[in-house]
Amino acid sequence: MAPEQIDPTSRLTGRVAVVTGASRGIGRAIALALARQGVKLCILGRDPSKLAETAIEVRRYAPATCFQIDLTVEKQLQPLLQYLQKEGGKLDILIHSAGIIHQSSLENARIEDLDAQYATNVRAPYRMTQQLLPSLTAASGQIVFINSSVGLKVTRPEVGQYSATKHALRAVADSLREEVNRKGIRVLTVNLGRTASEMQEAVHRQEGRTYDPTKLLQPEDVASVIVHSLSLPPTAEVTDVSIRPMIRT
Ligand SMILES: NC(=O)c1ccc[n+]([C@@H]2O[C@H](COP(=O)([O-])OP(=O)(O)OC[C@H]3O[C@@H](n4cnc5c(N)ncnc54)[C@H](OP(=O)(O)O)[C@@H]3O)[C@@H](O)[C@H]2O)c1
Repeated sequence: MAPEQIDPTSRLTGRVAVVTGASRGIGRAIALALARQGVKLCILGRDPSKLAETAIEVRRYAPATCFQIDLTVEKQLQPLLQYLQKEGGKLDILIHSAGIIHQSSLENARIEDLDAQYATNVRAPYRMTQQLLPSLTAASGQIVFINSSVGLKVTRPEVGQYSATKHALRAVADSLREEVNRKGIRVLTVNLGRTASEMQEAVHRQEGRTYDPTKLLQPEDVASVIVHSLSLPPTAEVTDVSIRPMIRT
């Protein structure tokens, strides 16, 4: 795709973004949508072949650098931190999309699953934000936390562990916003209903439901709301957005 297909009116062109969970699903769609605005991307994930697939798509529009990182292993962030320093030490956009879910009743749940979800869904974005804050401050940047409708209110069983981590993530985002707004940094939480992705396919399988991705929220819908929010002038901050599928099954 020729670069002239980048949105010529975009406020985001030339910005630098880090997107976690970019190897698939919602993170990949966000990376691609940002690339279409001319944003230079650092795309993160564990699966190198899936990351490479995202990179091929993204590079039709904008430069992309892949970082094969397990976010639960703190020292693996080093190459990203060094890369950003080398590029001038500024980061305009940080998107936390990586996440995992384990569903089970409290009675039957494995405590290791709670620990794993805490490590991926709370500790990793917390620590990563902490380490990237100087670069975000230098750019008066924006941070997006991909959260869930069950991070707001729980209306179904067997999501206690996952939902607890997403409630925690919202608390992290809300506190952070109060701390960094004065530095010119904006913080957005995006609460999603069921969105077509491998994660949601697995959730359907586990719940014994038929998976029809066409009836769900699309990753591209989510990406489009995020691009719009990030594109607002610095006089405005979107703090929380809830998006759900139009069809409820
Ligand atoms: N899909 C939904 O219905 C839905 C609803 C509400 C909220 N969400 C939230 O939306 C976000 C994205 O979900 P999705 O549906 O796109 O899920 P997905 O298709 O399962 O993708 C998850 C992404 O997270 C990455 N990831 C997981 N653990 C990681 C780790 N330890 N280190 C690095 N990367 C890791 C995966 O990378 P690798 O595969 O390369 O490891 C993958 O790119 C999550 O935070 C999820 O909780 C999803």
